[in-house]
Formats: sequence, C-alpha cells, structure tokens
Amino acid sequence: MADPQQVLRDRVRGAIVASFGSGLADADPLIRSSAFADFQANAALPLAKRLGRAPRDIAAELIAALDVADISSEPSVSGPGFINFTLRDDWIAGQAAGLLRDDRLGIVPAEHPQTVVAEYSSPNIAKEMHVGHLRSTIVGDAIARALEAVGHHVVRDNHVGDWGTQFGMLIEHLLDVGENSAEAALLRTDPNAFYQAARRAFDSEPAFAARSRERVVKLQGGDPATLRLWTQLMGMSREYLRRTYATLRVTLTDDDVRGESFYNDMLPGVVADLEAKGLAVISDGALCVFPPGFTGRDGRPLPVIVRKSDRGYNYSSTDLATVRYRVDKLNCDRAIYVVGSDQALHLAMIFAVSREAGWIPPGIVFEHDQIGMVLGTDGTRLRTREGEAVPLSSLLSEGIERARGILDELGASSEADPGELDAIAEDVGIGAIKYADLSTARDSAYVFDWDRMITFRGNTGPYLQYATARIRSIFRKAGLDERGVSPATAVTAAAERALALKLLAFGAAVSQVAETAEPHRLCGYLFDVASLFTTFYEECPVLRAEPASLREARLALCALTLRVLTAGLGLLGVPVPERM
Ligand code: ARG
Repeated sequence: MADPQQVLRDRVRGAIVASFGSGLADADPLIRSSAFADFQANAALPLAKRLGRAPRDIAAELIAALDVADISSEPSVSGPGFINFTLRDDWIAGQAAGLLRDDRLGIVPAEHPQTVVAEYSSPNIAKEMHVGHLRSTIVGDAIARALEAVGHHVVRDNHVGDWGTQFGMLIEHLLDVGENSAEAALLRTDPNAFYQAARRAFDSEPAFAARSRERVVKLQGGDPATLRLWTQLMGMSREYLRRTYATLRVTLTDDDVRGESFYNDMLPGVVADLEAKGLAVISDGALCVFPPGFTGRDGRPLPVIVRKSDRGYNYSSTDLATVRYRVDKLNCDRAIYVVGSDQALHLAMIFAVSREAGWIPPGIVFEHDQIGMVLGTDGTRLRTREGEAVPLSSLLSEGIERARGILDELGASSEADPGELDAIAEDVGIGAIKYADLSTARDSAYVFDWDRMITFRGNTGPYLQYATARIRSIFRKAGLDERGVSPATAVTAAAERALALKLLAFGAAVSQVAETAEPHRLCGYLFDVASLFTTFYEECPVLRAEPASLREARLALCALTLRVLTAGLGLLGVPVPERM
C-alpha cells in the first residue's frame, strides 16, 4: 500500500471511529493535497456539523486519537479545522524503495472485479474513420487498458455501422466496378473514396439508385448472393480497420467487432418484448416507446422509434438489442459507451427504455462516456478545405511528418540510423496525436492544433516521451542497466522528496481512470511526474553525486520514474521510443 493518500485515509478513518464511534465509519476523511503541508484531512468540518460541535475541537480530538508517528511528523490543526500532515522523509524513501520492488508499481487490484463491456471506436464501415471516431478509439482504448490494469474483465466491443440502407448502394457499386478491380481494392486503403464514388452514382443515376434500393431489400431479406457481396465488402473494410488500429497502436481486433448486423436476428424479439410489456405504441405508423422524462421543445413526449412505418428496424432497435445482449449474454456489471456527445439524447433514451423494460437490472451500470467535438484552430468543427470531415490517414501521416521536424531540431538524426529514425518519428507523431486527445477532458470540445501537440513544451506526448529517453540516456552514459538498480532510495533534497512522493501515487492515478473513465487524469499525473523529474534533474546531480550511496539512491529514483512514465504511457497506449 504505497499511495500516501490512501494510507492517510485509512488512518484518519480509524481515528474517527475511535473518537466518535463506528456510527461514523462512513464519514469521508477528505484527504486533499495541501499548500502548507503534504496533505490535509478536511473531515473535521462535516463531522462538526453532524455532531453539532466546533470543527477545530473535532480536529484536535482526531489528532489525539491518530496513530501516524511512523509515517508523518505530528499532525497540526490549521484554518477552520484542517489537519495537516507532513510525511516523514524516511517513510517516503522506504515506500519508494518498495515500489521499485513491486511489479505492479503500486496498482492495487479492484476489490470487486467486474465484467465491463467497453464500447469504443464504432466507425461506419466502408466510410473512412474521421477525427470523431479517432477520439473515441484512442480514449476508449486507454479506458479499457486502465480497467484491465486494475483487474476487471474487459469485453471490448466495436459497434461498427455495418448494416443499413447505404449498403444497397455500396454493393451495387461493388458489382459495377468488379470485385477484383482496383476500385474495389480502395475499400482496403481509402474506403471513403469508394463510398464517395457510390454516393455520386446514387445521386446522379436514377437507375443505379433504384437498383440500390432493391438491393437493400434483398440484403434484409437474406438473399444469399447479396449476403456474399456484403461479406466481401466487410472483409475488405476490416483490413482497413486492422491497419488503422495497428498504426494507432490500439488493441481492438477483429474478434471485438460486433457490428449492427450482429443484432439483426434479435430485433423482432426486442420489439415483441416491448409490445408484450405494453411499452410500445403505434404513432404515425411507426412503433414507438415514449420513455418518461423526455420531451421535445414543444413539451411533447419524445419517441424512441423501434420499428419504422415501413416495418423496417433502425439504429434504435439495434441499440436496444445491444443492451440486452450486453446484459444477458456478456453478463456485464458495467457497460461503457465511449461515443460522441452528439448522441447523448439517443443513448439516454435507449438506457431509459431498457430500464423500463427491465433489461438493465438495478446494480448494473450503463454509462455514456461522452466524447466532445473535435474543432479546428478556427474554433469550428474540423473539416478539410473542401468542407469534408478530415480523413484519418492523412491526419496520421501529417503527424508523423511533423514529428520528423521536431526530431531534427533535437538533433536526433545525428545519432540514429534512418530506419530507426523512421520508427521514432512514427512513435512521436502517433504518440503526440494520441496524447493531445487523451490529455483533454474527453467530454470537452478539443481543438486539433498541430503546433500545440507536436512540441516538447508543455503537457504533450513528445515531452513525456523525451523525459523517458533522457532517463535512459543517463543510464546509458553510466554504462548501467536501469533494471539493475538497487532498491535503496533516500530523500534528502526537496526536489527528490517531491518526485518520490508523486511516484507513490501512480496506482491511485490508474484506479481513478478505471473508475471515472477519464484518461486525462492519468495524463495530468504523468505530466506532474515528468515536471518534477526535470526539477530534480536540474537540482540534484545523479552520476556525479557523492557519496556512492547517494548516487545509488538517485539512480534508483531515476529508474522508478522511468518505470512509472513508461507504464503510464503504456496504459494510455502512447508508444515510448527508447531513444530520441
Ligand atoms: N456508428 C456510429 C457512428 O459512427 C456510432 C455508434 C455508437 N454506438 C452505439 N451503440 N450507438 O455515428
């Protein structure tokens, strides 16, 4: 148990119970970092309210009952009743040494491991992924990794759009160009071009449009020849997805794809159940559910259309089937939807209908982890000059190109051979794009700005990658293996102490991401670590430190920093080059 906040929380809770009885065991010790000490406990204030007494008296009583001599100097009361803690240097050093021996780096397994369905990415097949899907993909993958790191069973779920009316048009276009043509091969490399060509034919040739509509009917009717073509299309699209995920270092595989089509057979059952439960009514010819609490601007109840007036199913019917599948077949305790905030109303209504229908039993959490919009530097939705959503592939290659530029500044080209330099540029470019995305709160709009993400200044991917490369170079210079350091740390200088204390909180930062599904918290933490390391390295000589024991202790701190940064970036899915 290395996380100082958790240790203090336990001790203060003990003191609360000892002083005021087990009836108050639920009181939150409210441990916060403090400007005047390392941490403060704010528990006395709410306790004073509950007990009808003065906060400072409560704080004094708690201090009397507190048993912290082994970890902290004598706690003191400050302000209206805060209890300040200044941790002992030897305790911090001992904990840091323990962390260095701990393969889990202080990550504590969840008390109640859950099955968590993590839905993310979910692009529409045969259309190129755009920056909106990019964000869901990157953020979702980091959430999935953090959940796994704390011991949850994660079922990744890529809810791709692989069904629906546009497939009639795509299949007809595939037939027109020929299955083995160069045009068809575009599906593997530039699916957007394929989609656009099909769209143009659909919009300009009435005969093509008519054929496309007939094709949709055949597809939905399960016509074998049509299904074969559809399967062909899917196969090629998956190649595109596979390659994109590999470039992005995202852990999604083919096995994680459960697209809209997957639920096709379940749709009649979903609708029948809603009808049997008396929840579905016909409105304007369509079968609808009106979940309570959802009204339009005009104050009229809003429907979830579960079957269209032409008796066809839609996006909502599929999402309802998906909920049932996640609960009944995947046995989830928690389902997270890493999906754009523009779908907030849709998903809220899907969850509401599902709860009404009894498909989400109490205790099972369904949450929409909203993804904010991606904006260009002009503050509007990111678009190409032609007004199109920016395709992912061009974005990624530009990132890698720009990374090459900042690596040149660093003089990296003088050290590495061209092959290695290519690999580093890719790590830095992809890492910068991913990190920029991850370090912004996922639900806020995010400005896609090359100059701010591909730089060594500030809370950026390159800055953190460079911090790890710099630590590695310390060890290289000394001819030492960073894995071989002796786990003996000491904290003497202030910068050393601050860094060591921060490193102890790694596990807590990871747990927090798993709980809140907010990777930007881990980014903030890692940035703090890297900044504290920079200060430490400026103020404390490492290789020149005397005596040898101090040099060893500082090398150990360097190694621990390296391990935390590498593990943290790994959990974020940000690649870490060994040299830069
Ligand atoms: N394919 C959809 C889109 O690109 C996103 C799917 C969101 N997930 C869901 N369960 N509805 O807009």
